[in-house]
Amino acid sequence: MKIFLDTANVEKIRKAASMGLCDGVTTNPSIIMKEGRDHKAVIKEISSIIDGPVSVEGVGTTAEEMVKDAREFAKWGKNIVAKVPMTPEGLRAVKILSKEGIRTNVTLVFSANQGLLAAKAGASYISPFVGRLDDISQDGMELIADLTQILDNYGYEAEIIVASVRHPVHVMLSAKLGAHIATLPPDVFEKLFSHPLTDKGIKQFEEDYKKAQQSQAKK
Ligand code: G3P
Repeated sequence: MKIFLDTANVEKIRKAASMGLCDGVTTNPSIIMKEGRDHKAVIKEISSIIDGPVSVEGVGTTAEEMVKDAREFAKWGKNIVAKVPMTPEGLRAVKILSKEGIRTNVTLVFSANQGLLAAKAGASYISPFVGRLDDISQDGMELIADLTQILDNYGYEAEIIVASVRHPVHVMLSAKLGAHIATLPPDVFEKLFSHPLTDKGIKQFEEDYKKAQQSQAKK
C-alpha cells in the first residue's frame, strides 16, 4: 500500500521522504491554511521534494472554475493532481481534465455509488473520508471494502486514497482491505512506528551492552 502524507508541512514531508516512506502528498484549503504560507510557493516546494502525486484543491464550484484552477495548478509541478469535489460539476471537470492529461482526485466521497461515478468519469484517484463517516456513526472502513470490490469488479484504473484517517487502525484495515493508498496526517504516520515492547527491548539491549563492557573492563 502506498502511503501519502495529508499535510503541507514541508519538514514532516522531508523527514518521511528521507526514510523512503512518503509516496505522495494530499492537501486541501484547510491544510494549506494551517501552514500560513503562500499556496503556490508551498505546493511548488512539496512538488520538488516528492516524486509521487501531490494533490492540490481549489474552491471553484462550477466545472469551468475547477478546470481553470486545475490548469493553473498543473503548471506548478509535473506531479500535480487536481482535487475536485464529488459533485456533478466536479465530475464534469474530471471528464474535461482527463482528456487533457491532467490527473484528478475526487474528494469528499462518502458512498460507494459516489465512488463508482467518479471512477466512470475518469478520476485518477478517489478519496473516501473514513474518519468523518465514523464521526456520524457510519462505518468508514466498510466504504473502503465496498469501493475496493467495485473498482476490482470492473477493472477501473482509479486508485482509492483512504482519507480522513484518524488513527493507526484505519491504516492497518486499509492495507488488509487492499486499498491502493492511505493518506495520513503526520501524527498518525508517526504513531505507526511505535510499540512499547520495541522501546523496552532497545533499553534492555543498551543496558546489557553496557554491563558486558563493564565486566570485560574489569578482567
Ligand atoms: O484527506 C482529507 C482530510 O484532510 C480530511 O480529514 O480529519 O478533516 O476529516 P479530516
